[in-house]
Amino acid sequence: MHNCAMSTSSPEVYARRRAALLNKMQRGIALITAAPEAVRNGDAHYPYRQDSSFYYLTGFNEPEAALLLIAGDPAQAILFCREKNMEREIWDGHRYGPAGAQAVFGFDAAYPIAELDTKIVELMGDQPALYYALGANTELDARVLRWRAAVQEKSRSGIRAPDALHDVRQLLNEMRLYKDTHELNLMRRAATISSSAHLRAMRFTRPGLYEYQVEAELLHEFCQHGARDPAYTSIVAGGANACTLHYVGNNALLNNGDLLLIDAGCEMGSYASDITRTFPVNGKFSAAQRDVYQLVLAAQTAAIATAKIGAHWNSPHDAALRVLAQGFIDLKLCHGSVDAVIEDGSYRQFYMHRTGHWLGMDVHDVGEYKIGADWRPLEAGMVLTVEPGCYIRPADNVPEALWNIGIRIEDDVLITATGNEILSAAAPKTVAEIEEVMRHG
Ligand code: GLY
Ligand code: MN
Ligand code: MN
Repeated sequence: MHNCAMSTSSPEVYARRRAALLNKMQRGIALITAAPEAVRNGDAHYPYRQDSSFYYLTGFNEPEAALLLIAGDPAQAILFCREKNMEREIWDGHRYGPAGAQAVFGFDAAYPIAELDTKIVELMGDQPALYYALGANTELDARVLRWRAAVQEKSRSGIRAPDALHDVRQLLNEMRLYKDTHELNLMRRAATISSSAHLRAMRFTRPGLYEYQVEAELLHEFCQHGARDPAYTSIVAGGANACTLHYVGNNALLNNGDLLLIDAGCEMGSYASDITRTFPVNGKFSAAQRDVYQLVLAAQTAAIATAKIGAHWNSPHDAALRVLAQGFIDLKLCHGSVDAVIEDGSYRQFYMHRTGHWLGMDVHDVGEYKIGADWRPLEAGMVLTVEPGCYIRPADNVPEALWNIGIRIEDDVLITATGNEILSAAAPKTVAEIEEVMRHG
């Protein structure tokens, strides 16, 4: 079944993106393939997740499919997909079949996927270049070379094989970095649902629960709003577990007096949200927890303030790091001046990751972070996370009152013409907001 009802309601959105890619290619032929189904164990599969770039260009959510784009006048978009099969459809659900897919999704032509090998050899003839995800998959690389060799065999009839193989992702990733209105609507929805999931988790949490019980509340809220899948495995980390950056065990007891770090976001219509909140299990920050929390929040506030046109990719990180370094000095975690702490890297004992990443169809989305040797400028339509943190493991050089405090605060930020928009703003974040929400359950 199709898990995104929106896909077919706006075929022109996908047609527009195909036209934009064709325009960037100028000449040649491009191949973009669907994701394979993935076996979980035995004969059970993971829920199907389409390849992000294939979905970006088609809105088509079936496996065993490929898109061919041929630049020229007229340009062509050709889909290869599974044929209708009543027996399989009784078991596994509807398949569009080539004719259905062509009509509903607006391709210029569509053929059974079994015909890809022969059709692509015909269509590659006399094309100057082939664009595909070069090097992403050795099996596909081998097929491409076989197709090209088959075209070359026709050279005595005067047909030429493409001289150039290009990585189509260099064009596609750049397109995906700038979100269009359709994408931003989905990303706003994803972030709004995830924000209410974090709110629900805060209201629900109390000492004596297990981390997975809070995780269940998050998943409940996602699914209630039509977001069946999390965009990544939820991190629900009580106490010291928060100091394990990719903790996903989610099976420990939540203790009175500990903090709970939740990094969780749903996927909506193939778009990710990615939100982290940290709050006290019992609803009230201790003095030490509050000090560290206010520091991370100040770092995040400073970072978000720089996230606008005119700044470069690393500006939020630089801003967060300066605030954190000063805070680490004030808390006696680091020593010396801010510049020295940044220069000598001693802050890394407590802050060992970067301050964000691009966000989109993939949680760590595509798009270059540098242009040449320089951080790229932020531009309208880009979406990034801003997620500073502080993770204090027990150590001889650390005041004991701070041991096992792990805090991260993460929001999803859209760069706009006039500044930025925090897509995840509805998730409570200040000490006062969090304590207020938790007081009332
Ligand atoms: N949840 C993954 C990340 O924050 O990057
Ligand atoms: Mn993130
Ligand atoms: Mn995250």
